[in-house]
Amino acid sequence: MRTSEFILAKRNGEAHTREELEDFIQGYLSGDIPDYQVSAWLMAVCWRGMSDQETIDLTNILACSGHMLDLHDLPHTVDKHSTGGVGDKTSLVLAPLLASSGAKVAKMSGRGLGHTGGTIDKLESIPGFSAILSESAFLRQIHEIGVVVSGQSTELAPAEGLLYALRNATATVQSLPLIASSIMSKKLAGGAGSLVLDVKVGSGAFLKTREEARRLGTTMMRIGREAGQEVRIVLSNMEEPLGYTVGNTLEVIEAMQCLKGAGPRDLTELCITLAEEVLSATGLPHERGEIEKRLTDGRAYDTFERWISAQGGKLEALETLELAPDRAVRRAPKAGFVSEVEALQIGQAVNTLGGGRSKKGDVIDLGVGIELHAKIGTEVERGDPLATIYHRSGKGLEDAIALFDRAITIAESATPPPLILESLPQIADG
Ligand code: URA
Repeated sequence: MRTSEFILAKRNGEAHTREELEDFIQGYLSGDIPDYQVSAWLMAVCWRGMSDQETIDLTNILACSGHMLDLHDLPHTVDKHSTGGVGDKTSLVLAPLLASSGAKVAKMSGRGLGHTGGTIDKLESIPGFSAILSESAFLRQIHEIGVVVSGQSTELAPAEGLLYALRNATATVQSLPLIASSIMSKKLAGGAGSLVLDVKVGSGAFLKTREEARRLGTTMMRIGREAGQEVRIVLSNMEEPLGYTVGNTLEVIEAMQCLKGAGPRDLTELCITLAEEVLSATGLPHERGEIEKRLTDGRAYDTFERWISAQGGKLEALETLELAPDRAVRRAPKAGFVSEVEALQIGQAVNTLGGGRSKKGDVIDLGVGIELHAKIGTEVERGDPLATIYHRSGKGLEDAIALFDRAITIAESATPPPLILESLPQIADG
């Protein structure tokens, strides 16, 4: 089939066969099909969707575009992924927390996507850290350290890496089959036996309603199940950013505080809940109090340091990570209770400061970001600081301030929303 006919078929709402999808992805990988045709197809998928069978086929094709890791000789292998959030630094905490609990954490992550941040960008705020690992280095590290996090590479899920970067630049992220196949292809290629997937719901999530989030979760659970993985799905709130910081370096600093037992309540609670879920799937001990203790007694932080060091990160730099030098403080225009901190606009504000990409391959500013001083439910007086914006010589500042001011609402009363919404029940086999 000619590529233009393949695109037209999806534009008309027709389903692709596995062979057609395979030829298309293979053509993209080899360079025969250019970005502009793949972009047109991605947009058609956003509008027309995909059947369950197409989603499963696309996932497997993306996963098999590189090597599939075989971790069967290792016990208790786990992986984690989120569907994309603002201020979501959970992986930086959860990966070493799980490894310190006896699990082997083999994780493939991505860079910033749309208005959300990406684990790989965050980790690259640490001088020396390398997320591009060969397959043999990935396997060696999981055996020796018990935790490894890499990006997509020419060896692992390369076609997913190409599509991911293109979706980010073409406003084609928000699509259930594209999100499910993007996440699950990385999980299948990574080879872990048990997964926990944090499906975000709310204004800052790619899928806004609980119903859509359940459908996404169930689709991913089904794909993992078919591949023999034990998948746990947690739905969590993304109406406001997670924790108090948004921006790559700021988030690494907050994640380290959490690993030392001094993190914000919501981030800590989410990490403990996800840890409990995935540890129970492996059969390892998963008592909440025990998990929490690993954050306060230094075991999780020690594992974090061993992991970062194994991937080239300079431990002596961790206490002095470089933030953008300029600051602007936003203050409450009136007294009351903070009732909204719209995650979407906060994420867009950080991108505007230079913290996200608008084109493939853009170099981003890891030091910019926003530190919130108030979250939903906080009582403020007129003039109290709401946030500090970290910027570089005013670049993007005016637009970021406008976005920030629109994101915040102060009302006469406000109640913090629940963070953990639900865990999806296991689907029946077959
Ligand atoms: N995370 C991913 O890896 N892919 C998506 O599409 C969304 C979140």
